[in-house]
Amino acid sequence: MQDLNPIAIELNDQIRDTAPSVFALLSELGKRIYLPKGILSQTAEANTKAHRFNATRAIASEDGDMMHLAVSRELVPELTLEGVYGYAPVLGQPELRDAWRTHLLKENPSLTETTLSLPIVTSGMTHGFSLISELFVDGNDPLILPDKIWGNYRLIFQTKAGAAVHTYPFFNTTNGFNTHDFRETLTNTTGEKMLILLNFPHNPTGYAINRTEAQQIVDAIVARADAGCHILVMVDDAYAGLWYDPSVMHESLFGLLVGCHPNVVPVKIDGATKEEYAWGLRVAFMTFGLGEAAMQPLEQKLSGLIRANTSGASQVSQTLILEAMNTSGYAEQKQRNYEILKGRALKVKKVVSNSRYAKLWEVYPSHAGYFTCLRLKSGNAEVVRQLLLNEHGIGTIALGETELRVAYSCLEESDIETVFAVIAQVIEEL
Ligand SMILES: Cc1ncc(COP(=O)(O)O)c(C=O)c1O
Repeated sequence: MQDLNPIAIELNDQIRDTAPSVFALLSELGKRIYLPKGILSQTAEANTKAHRFNATRAIASEDGDMMHLAVSRELVPELTLEGVYGYAPVLGQPELRDAWRTHLLKENPSLTETTLSLPIVTSGMTHGFSLISELFVDGNDPLILPDKIWGNYRLIFQTKAGAAVHTYPFFNTTNGFNTHDFRETLTNTTGEKMLILLNFPHNPTGYAINRTEAQQIVDAIVARADAGCHILVMVDDAYAGLWYDPSVMHESLFGLLVGCHPNVVPVKIDGATKEEYAWGLRVAFMTFGLGEAAMQPLEQKLSGLIRANTSGASQVSQTLILEAMNTSGYAEQKQRNYEILKGRALKVKKVVSNSRYAKLWEVYPSHAGYFTCLRLKSGNAEVVRQLLLNEHGIGTIALGETELRVAYSCLEESDIETVFAVIAQVIEEL
């Protein structure tokens, strides 16, 4: 076991004093990590005092601005050189962090009266989950996941960090979110530390919870916290905002979790990825339901972790997201995309639930996001997927033996009927 660096010890003491449950949740690496007072702090000092020559930054300059190649510069002529080529701060551009916080407060009415950290910028949501696993997960720590998930969770938390995954069936017998089995799994998982990951709108089904289900989820978490367990609740809001059904909750569960119990630490992971239609820009956010005193040492630890792997998210990507958010026409353009996706979602709902397909598949309820998911009543999902691909040129995702996920987000509304007719034909011909 390594000796802890004195800075790490100081940060641990601060976390223990300001947020005991965060301290109880830290992994061994989480306890060890810190941000050295080295190049970053010397550079920051020079940025304010070096008025003659600043020879601290590991960049190249020319005529008082950033040296660059005109061939790439010509592609983004309107942005500043710093906004394209400079290093972004480790935790992200301060203006972007502010803008995303304002966006969260606007879109989540339950957050107004609560404690909310400044979002931390990560290189996509996957990076955010990886950071959380480094900060909080030791081998065999229990992680509660439903049986239907975005598969990358297993790679990050189970394969990489060694968490012990406890699953519950996502749906109950009436095809609602299985709050009963969720609660049972929490009750039956012993120990004083637990991680929970929840994702609505849901990948792969497109399911979104209603207010009653949201409250039942929070009640189950609070009951387990009352029994002495420290719980980190990760809320994956990749598809936030893309709700198409008035019967479901049109805000994040995160708002109901913040401040629900002193033993519960909620963290919202969301992103420009899907919400801003910027998948490959790799800009996402991690926001804790914690106040400034707790966040100060936690940010230092996260800075240390980020510094030790990506060293920070892409500057030009952050600039593009921020500039877009501040440009007139932004809200209208987002609304336009939303309406297109909603049109596709409603069309899919109508087509897949047609009675002529009833003998072939059951459709999981889908209210939001990008996907619909079929449970095939006969045939194997992988066989169907391969036939669709090889004989009809249609790409879908097979999940397990019987489930086929269709991302209608990338189908034109006018093609939806054809796609499902071909899926039906392939199943019937098996
Ligand atoms: C539920 C969910 N979370 C997170 C992500 C990934 O986000 P990112 O591309 O920002 O890593 C996806 C991508 O498909 C997803 O479906």
